[in-house]
Amino acid sequence: MPNPRLEIERLRAEVAEHDTRYYQSAQPTIDDQAYDRLKARLQELEARYPELDIRDSPTQLVGDDRSKGFKSYTHRKPMLSLDNTYNQDDLLAFGKRLEKLFQGTALNYIIEPKIDGVAVSLSYEHGRLVRAITRGNGIEGDDITQNLSHLDQLPKTIEKAPEYVEIRGEIYMSHYEFDRINKQREKNGESLYANPRNLAAGTVKLLDPKEARNRQLEIVLYGLGACSPENFFNSQSEVQEKLRNWNCPVLEKFWTCCGIDEVWPCIEALDQKRRDFTYPTDGAVIKLDSIPQQEIAGYTSKAPRAAIAYKFEAERAETILKEIQMQVGRTGAVTPVAILKPVPLAGTIVARATLHNEDEIIRKDIRPGDTVFVQKAGEIIPQILSVNLEKRPTDSVPFNFEARLNELGIQAKRKSGDAAWRVNAKDEPGRKSRSLRHFASRVCMDIDHLGPAIIDQLIQRGLVSDLADLYDLKFEQLMELEKFGDKSARNLLEAIEASKDRQLWQLIHGLGIPNIGKQSAKDLEMKFEKMNAIADADVIALEKTEGIGKVMAEGIFKWFADRLNRQQLDRLRNAGLNLESKIKTNRVNSPISGKVLVLTGTLPTLSRSEAAEKIEAAGGRTSSSVSAKTDYLLAGSDAGSKLTKAEKLGITILSEDDFLELIT
Ligand code: IVH
Repeated sequence: MPNPRLEIERLRAEVAEHDTRYYQSAQPTIDDQAYDRLKARLQELEARYPELDIRDSPTQLVGDDRSKGFKSYTHRKPMLSLDNTYNQDDLLAFGKRLEKLFQGTALNYIIEPKIDGVAVSLSYEHGRLVRAITRGNGIEGDDITQNLSHLDQLPKTIEKAPEYVEIRGEIYMSHYEFDRINKQREKNGESLYANPRNLAAGTVKLLDPKEARNRQLEIVLYGLGACSPENFFNSQSEVQEKLRNWNCPVLEKFWTCCGIDEVWPCIEALDQKRRDFTYPTDGAVIKLDSIPQQEIAGYTSKAPRAAIAYKFEAERAETILKEIQMQVGRTGAVTPVAILKPVPLAGTIVARATLHNEDEIIRKDIRPGDTVFVQKAGEIIPQILSVNLEKRPTDSVPFNFEARLNELGIQAKRKSGDAAWRVNAKDEPGRKSRSLRHFASRVCMDIDHLGPAIIDQLIQRGLVSDLADLYDLKFEQLMELEKFGDKSARNLLEAIEASKDRQLWQLIHGLGIPNIGKQSAKDLEMKFEKMNAIADADVIALEKTEGIGKVMAEGIFKWFADRLNRQQLDRLRNAGLNLESKIKTNRVNSPISGKVLVLTGTLPTLSRSEAAEKIEAAGGRTSSSVSAKTDYLLAGSDAGSKLTKAEKLGITILSEDDFLELIT
């Protein structure tokens, strides 16, 4: 290797980046196995070059999930991570190390499923649940009690409990719930979540507990953190038994055995059983059963020495890649999709796989006609791992992305520095339909009765080509549509008419300006109040808007500079759509107009989103962190570090009553 120091630094940065994506944003870009491989390589190099300082390496740290807007809490006993392996020899070596340590003593092990969820610690004081905390950085985590308060499975009290106990477990989401939420999002024109683990992680961190309540999370408990008195439990199997007696949701199955040689058959039995479990599992956790022995074995900086995780390889299958199709997203980005000869994999039949982008296809040299290995690793959409080159047809040629686009009649360009090809023709058929669906979706113009099937018919019959055409539709034209009668035609016309009166931000969002989502649309409405003012603003003025960055400002400017977009806007104006802010009248006199407010703690009557709506309606803006720019802190009960910081900075603190008085 040319320079081990540089290689180690590069790997550390890469692993740290993946840690942030996984723990902070709940949006990993690689699967667990690829991540584990990277980390194992880093560990191996660090062991080979011990002279390089290891203290700040991600191999020595527990990933950090703490986020803004949550009160932090210190675990009485740290929440560590586990050493993990995919290799049976490592497992034996783990057993041998412990045997050496406890010379001559027969060691009992417990083998548990490793649940692929979000770690949580529940504190019970005198048998009463007092808080739920995420793992955080292992030392202190975020208080998510509010977001779990509606979980029926979670015992609020436990009987004959020790004075204080931290019960550890995992929060997860069922596939059923995951599908339900994604279907809803699709209907609303919102982006889809990649897998249930990420969605569960995102849900426990929602700042609005009301919103969290709309998503069903589940929990399973398996372990112990701090406990007083310390000797309340003697073994891990006793913990399992007690949890069951306390009516906690517990592991569906675990195994106990004597000696490391007996462990492997238990892992195999678990691998057979785990498909019937309600929670996703990605391995087995092997622990010394005796708690005093666990303590004697001790800990490294990030993991106990008395436990190890044996991870199961993600399931793979071999199949033929029939062709590469192209999907065009709402923003115009083209995503290649592999159409596969259907093959059974991890309980479902797989017929498609994502290919991400052109570079990914080049890197893996994937070609139609190839035999490929596909894998499902916690993701709903399978991935192509690699090509079985031995089975490559002799006449095969490298895939030409641009040629395939031309073949499909998709006019797209790829700019330097951009990973994606993007369509540039506004009249590409799929794009028209997507932009109309987005426009009609609940968050935007909320047009009832205008579903995807009707939109596609309207386009095919040439009745609608852009957003403004919707407002020219006539009763007779609608009567020509399939399955349309008097009533359905009238309903649709009424819904279109009603949409003329939406909020300005809903229209801004609905126009499909690149990168302008709900919040940025609201920010624009707040600053400019009229569509005209936005359309006429220059990049500098746009960029001065709170929440609007340079790229967004340039995108908005460009969109309004386009002659066709301007014409469309004129037609929408002529059709009578609302192009002005309706909250303007309150704003002028409101003392919080133009001010920045931060919310913290639990308010007596208002939820966070209700408070935020009132702030916006009165011309104020909410921000998630306290800084010198903050004008007011709206604080409820249990307000933590934000309150202290605001007091230090001399920021005016408002109670809910003060706030309501101020805006009325
Ligand atoms: S024991 C000191 N048992 O996996 C950590 N952890 O990769 C002891 N996990 O942080 C943890 N199922 O969040 C343990 N049966 C199980 C588990 C389990 C899932 C999670 C846990 C841990 C992570 C480590």
